[in-house]
Amino acid sequence: MPHSEINDVTPEMIQRYNRPGPRYTSYPTVPVWEKGQFHEDYVQCLQKESLKERPISLYVHLPFCRQLCTFCGCNKFITGNRKITEDYLSALDKEIDGVARILHSRKKLAQIHLGGGTPTYLNPKQLERFINKITSRFDVQENSELAFEADPRVTTIDHLETLYGLGFRRVSFGVQDLNRDVQKAINRNQTAKQSWDTINNSRSIGYTSINLDLVYGLPLQTHQSFCKTLDEVGKMRPDRLAVYSFAYLPGMFKTHKRAIKDKDLPVPEEKIQIYLEAIRFFTEIGYVMIGMDHYALPEDELALALKNRTLHRNFMGYTTLHNMAQIGIGVSAISDFGDSYWQNNKDLYQYMNEASDKILNPRRGIKLDKEDQLRREVIETLMCHGEILISDFETRYEINFSKHFNNAWPELEKFAREGLVKLDSNKIDLTPVGTLFTRNIAMPFDRYLTESSSMNFSKTV
Ligand SMILES: C[S@@+](CC[C@H](N)C(=O)[O-])C[C@H]1O[C@@H](n2cnc3c(N)ncnc32)[C@H](O)[C@@H]1O
Ligand code: SF4
Repeated sequence: MPHSEINDVTPEMIQRYNRPGPRYTSYPTVPVWEKGQFHEDYVQCLQKESLKERPISLYVHLPFCRQLCTFCGCNKFITGNRKITEDYLSALDKEIDGVARILHSRKKLAQIHLGGGTPTYLNPKQLERFINKITSRFDVQENSELAFEADPRVTTIDHLETLYGLGFRRVSFGVQDLNRDVQKAINRNQTAKQSWDTINNSRSIGYTSINLDLVYGLPLQTHQSFCKTLDEVGKMRPDRLAVYSFAYLPGMFKTHKRAIKDKDLPVPEEKIQIYLEAIRFFTEIGYVMIGMDHYALPEDELALALKNRTLHRNFMGYTTLHNMAQIGIGVSAISDFGDSYWQNNKDLYQYMNEASDKILNPRRGIKLDKEDQLRREVIETLMCHGEILISDFETRYEINFSKHFNNAWPELEKFAREGLVKLDSNKIDLTPVGTLFTRNIAMPFDRYLTESSSMNFSKTV
């Protein structure tokens, strides 16, 4: 974003738009999904999937971590008890058997993503056994994307070599912030050396894509301190970066409420300065900004997908993969069949009990009608490309765009008057300043969002 544009962000704007709102990794958002027991619906979706040719993307949730980072908003389970990891892996094995049985034929896998928690909390032997279980039930395609999330503090060379040997080429490491005071405030001591060593080891083993996660808006973080983190991380030269806005949810996470003092958080103006600094820094050293919060080297597939308009967004963030069923395995994992979403039990013990009894029983779900699918695509397009080509939607969905979204239109006109979007007869185009408020600009297209329901989400700045 050009520097002149940065000055266009006024404190009033920040105040007006800094309100709770979804990050839209799904639409409809999870709180809208029905709660219940969805065994039959889920089995039906898998059966329908078995008749399709398209490959599958498998997401596996591995929730265990050694130590609690107090800022964390993931579904994680802190434990020193190794026995529970064995019980959990047995439950995963049963779930994989169950899914594969319903899918009938040996389905092709185009992606495996191990997310967490911390997948490398499991030892290399456990990971190897588990991946072999997957490959005994599915055919991993030759060019498939195998990726895992890892915490540099617990990831050994043995982990990296084992997963590389199993075909993994992408790895995503949590760094968050390198400043000691910030680390203390989030209970995560991780020296720069630990991050450097893990990155260097991954490179020499042969990993071709290294992603680092940073978080802005953490307690005690300042614009100045974050600049030092950026300098060091820039030298690490990862292929991709995610720079997440700290989702502070004291109403949802007891640890946020107990361990993070409101007064330690950067005020919204400081937080947005930190965010802008990240944009300035990474674009100046040659990264391409992807959507709201990701960066990639120009030759990286994400940057190329942005250029070719083939970029997509799902639970795992921005992706180049599309048109495949996403099947989630493990506690709280989400499945996305395109016209329905399902989420597994979020309680670890309940999940393990049912999976061990071979019961596939998502506890939340939603079937998307045509209107949901249209709105999902509009929101995803805004999040990925920052622009909507109106005629494209009018042709494919047989609608008159401005009439169809007549409730959203006055809001969009307001954004246009503020300089956040440019509107013309065929285009809704986010301006560089508008990019900072992408979540706000997507919200008028959400037909379920009410003032009170939006309170469940983190603030947009
Ligand atoms: C599953 S964790 C990453 C792997 C590993 N557990 C680690 O911490 O290194 C995924 C990422 O989510 C991000 N994250 C977690 N809690 C967050 C929150 N409350 N707000 C914003 N980002 C968050 C962090 O950047 C974290 O690295
Ligand atoms: S940030 Fe990573 S290591 Fe820390 S608690 Fe969350 S999932 Fe675990």
